[in-house]
Formats: sequence, structure tokens, C-alpha cells
Amino acid sequence: MTAVAKPGDLREAARLIRGGELVAFPTETVYGLGADASNPDAVRDIFRAKGRPSDNPLIAHIADVSMWPALARDIDDRALSLADRFWPGPLTIVLPRTDAVPDIVTAGLDTVGVRVPAHPVALALIRESGRALAAPSANRSGKPSPTTAKAVLDDMDGVIPMILDGGPCRVGMESTVLDMSQSTPIVLRPGGVTVEALRAILPDVIVDPSALAPLADGQRAASPGMRHRHYSPSIPLSVVTGLDRVNALRSLYDDALAKGLSPILLLCDESAAKVPPRRCIALGSYNDLERVSSRLFGALRDLDRSGASIAYAESFPAEGAGLALMNRLLRAAGFSVINTD
Ligand code: TXA
Ligand code: MG
Repeated sequence: MTAVAKPGDLREAARLIRGGELVAFPTETVYGLGADASNPDAVRDIFRAKGRPSDNPLIAHIADVSMWPALARDIDDRALSLADRFWPGPLTIVLPRTDAVPDIVTAGLDTVGVRVPAHPVALALIRESGRALAAPSANRSGKPSPTTAKAVLDDMDGVIPMILDGGPCRVGMESTVLDMSQSTPIVLRPGGVTVEALRAILPDVIVDPSALAPLADGQRAASPGMRHRHYSPSIPLSVVTGLDRVNALRSLYDDALAKGLSPILLLCDESAAKVPPRRCIALGSYNDLERVSSRLFGALRDLDRSGASIAYAESFPAEGAGLALMNRLLRAAGFSVINTD
């Protein structure tokens, strides 16, 4: 049995972490599945519990910058400025690792991703346990990241001893993974901190091309996580792009229905107002892509429960908060795109 505990049970959670057990905990982005980052056996259990490929490195979560030098080397002025501006918050900074970081945390890479989460429960768990927490998103590998304790329970019931319930995650989208270990800073995974915001401190920052495109056969993934199937609902999903997409979504829906399928649409509020009586999930206003992002993972899980047999999603502009949103949506759709232009 997995206990869903209130933050008051922090002491017990910290005791579990120190004893080498796994605890799921809330962050501002998504729920994490945490283990003592200095304990290789505990970290191995994370991979087992998630069914995660062993070549995909984990992020180390710390309570403040004072814990950083134990894990990462070459923390220069630019890295410190980033930490100063964006921590606590949804930015993971990748730098060369120290010898103190077990191989299994970084999947054998010589770099380590570190962040300070902006959630009081996550920070309290790190402090109370006195450990950096290695933590991926607390979903089964391949599933959408969990943004509520209930979503964690759906994937992890009976597999881990405890989930700390801190309510729904505010950002709802994972952290931006920024590689600072090479001469040009590069965003490996777009996320809660936009590229535009990073540019204020890093004018030369670039975005890995895999942000919006599938990897070609044999192409090396800068971030190993980009290689694997991700965020997948259990029914087929396509993303519909182009100016005339709302009309296209209506006809795709009607065609699917005529074929005896049970379709459903994923849309912004404005488009959702144009499709009744068709079934849809509205994600928030087109003018508030942060809100749309924060609801995406919950909506992908709702698709699984909807009883629908095929889904079509509207596409969004891939800039600002929209870049991370489109990165996740395209991956959830396995890059199945229908262009109406
Ligand atoms: O917001 C988040 O980042 C959440 C919360 C729990 O902090 N965590 C999360 O972890 O999304 P995960 O494991 O689901 O995704 C981590 C991503 C993966 O794509 C992984 O490949 C990449 O970060 N990553 C981690 N360490 C890396 C490294 N040293 N070099 C390159 N990529 C790295
Ligand atoms: Mg994940």
C-alpha cells in the first residue's frame, strides 16, 4: 500500500529517504519520485519503479546553492547569475559533476543536472532528510508527468511507500534543462523558464533542434530523455496545425464519428467555443499559454479515462511558454501532425 500523506508527515518521509526508500513529493513543476542522491541502491529503485531506461539521467534537487558545489564543478559567474535569477524555480542547470555523484544518477554521463524546486514541501523534505534528492517525474515511464498526488497514485500505487500530497502543481510543466557544460549554453528540454527569459542573462543561448522535431535514426540525443517515448496517452493523438485548424478539427471529428470511432478534441477555450456539440477538453485561453501548459498533462491523463478512441489536439505558437507546450504535445502525439495550410 502506498500512503498518501499530508506535508505534516515530513518527518516520516525524511526517515524513509534516509533509509534508502522512495518518496513522491510535490514541486512547482510536476511531482517528483525522490531518493537519496548519494545512495546508488535507492536511485536504482527509481529506475525500477518507473520502468525507466537506465541511460536516462536524473535531476538532483537541492534546497539552496550552498549544496551545489558538492554535486557540480565549474560553477562560474554565469551559472551563479542564473541560479540567482531563477532558483528556486523551474530551471535545471547541467554542469560537470563531482566524484560524489554516483554513476547511476547521471546514467554514466560526466555532467549532472541540478535545480532548487520552488515548493515548500520539496524544500522541507530536502532539508529534513539532509540529502540532495535524485528525482525524475513520478510517472510510469512513457506516461504524462503527474501534476497531482492522485495522478502519482494512479501510476505508483503499491510500488512506493509514500506520496506527500502538496496539492496540484502550479507550473504543471517540467523544468527547462539548460546545458552549461559547453562553450555555448543550450536548452536541451524547454520547460517552465522560457528561452526568452534565459536570453536576458544568456544572450547566446540556443535551443536543441530536438525540441520540436523527432530525432533522425542514429542521431545522438543531447538529452537522453529526448530519445524515449514520452507523455503518451493510451489512444492515438494527432496535432492539427494551420490557420484553418478549427474547421479541420471539426471535420476530423465528424469523419471519425462516421467511421464508428469515438473522437475527442483538445483545444484552447476560444476554439472549444466553436465546436459544440462535439466532445472536447478545453485547456485555457489561447492568450495564456502558461495556463494551457499547466493543464496539458492532466488533460492527457483525462484522455485515457474519457473512453474516447481517437484524439485531435490544436497546435499552439511555439514561442514563450508555447515552446515547452508544443515540445510535450508533439511528443505525446508521437509527432503525428496534420497540417491544414
Ligand atoms: O521539473 C522537473 O524537471 C521534474 C521535477 C520533478 O523536478 N523532473 C523531471 O525529471 O522532469 P525527468 O527525469 O522526468 O526529466 C529529466 C530530463 C530528462 O530529459 C533527462 O534526460 C534530462 O533531464 N537530464 C537530466 N540530467 C541530464 C544531464 N546530465 N545531461 C543531459 N540531460 C539531462
Ligand atoms: Mg519525466
